[in-house]
Amino acid sequence: MSKPVILTGLRANNDLHIGNYFGALLPLVDMATKRADEYDVYLMLADLHSFTTPIEHSELQGQIKENLKVYVAAGLPLDHQGVRLFRQSYVPAHSELTWILDCFTGMGELSRMTQFKDKSSKINEDRINVGLFNYPVLMACDYLLYGASYVPVGDDQTQHLEFGRDIASRINNQFGEIFTVPKPVKEQHELFGKDQGLRIKDLADPSKKMSKSTESERGVIFLNEDPAQAAQKIMSATTDSVGSINFNPENQPGIANLLQILSLLSGTPQEETISAWQGKSNYGELKRAVADATSKFLGDFQAKLSTVSNDDIRRHLESSEQAMNTQANETLLKVQQAVGLRA
Ligand code: ADP
Ligand code: TRP
Repeated sequence: MSKPVILTGLRANNDLHIGNYFGALLPLVDMATKRADEYDVYLMLADLHSFTTPIEHSELQGQIKENLKVYVAAGLPLDHQGVRLFRQSYVPAHSELTWILDCFTGMGELSRMTQFKDKSSKINEDRINVGLFNYPVLMACDYLLYGASYVPVGDDQTQHLEFGRDIASRINNQFGEIFTVPKPVKEQHELFGKDQGLRIKDLADPSKKMSKSTESERGVIFLNEDPAQAAQKIMSATTDSVGSINFNPENQPGIANLLQILSLLSGTPQEETISAWQGKSNYGELKRAVADATSKFLGDFQAKLSTVSNDDIRRHLESSEQAMNTQANETLLKVQQAVGLRA
């Protein structure tokens, strides 16, 4: 019998940051290294999603190459059977299925997506492209083509995942069992041993999530950035005037964020980190501890990054993308037959 599939995707619109790492990449890598005998693990570089917000197109190829290396440095084992790394645009079925599912998606449904509302409110209207609006449909196709049951993503993507479950069920109800509907989000968190999705906040503005599509990079820690510069960003993080360390994401979002980052970087359970700092008043001391943990983490990560071989990645992509095309085309054909495009 085939194994349940876990799949996630990351856009290549900029360098990756610690939110991408802990929110999406690490859960997947953990599964690929510890449970590859129970699950097939697919990691997709979402290149078609990369320009839903404006980018410098001449830099995209370089970003793609660098991001692929980051996946491998994060521990994705390219030589495990069942582990596949691939680029979205190298499997044309993603684009084709998107058009079909577009025609089964309501304008209202997509208009209600918080991320669309957020991102489009920040961009001049003439620069909001239809791709940003349509992005959850392409994202749904990314995992529906491979029958993925689990799609580890950060908290910001939960609504998109709910949409993907809806559209899969809608097609199944109308045409019969074509798609595997991904597990309910709560069950997905359980598989990864969490009670909710992760959302690391921007250091300079902790009311926002840390994002690579942000305008100012002062609040973002990139995986390939100079460790000393990253430590500096932590030391300048926005906090509050309460004067006492508490884990209170609502009233003290900056401090809560630092505690969360410290726990993730040091691999210490969050409860333990919180109780070690709870009630202390020296914010500078907490920042120093987070800054030290950050520069150590980045130093170790970048040492791994420098050993990753482009040739190994190229070889893996060649065979993996061929296999993904075969699988994706099988699902696409079922849909084409169901909607009357094929006999
Ligand atoms: P970004 O929003 O930084 O441009 P993407 O949209 O490409 O990143 O997201 C890639 C993955 O990283 C998604 O699963 C997303 O949920 C996760 N992710 C992004 N930012 C964060 C964050 N601040 N905290 C946790 N996970 C995040
Ligand atoms: N939309 C996701 C994001 O911006 C990235 C993504 C694209 C993705 N396709 C996916 C995540 C498929 C999971 C599965 O964060």
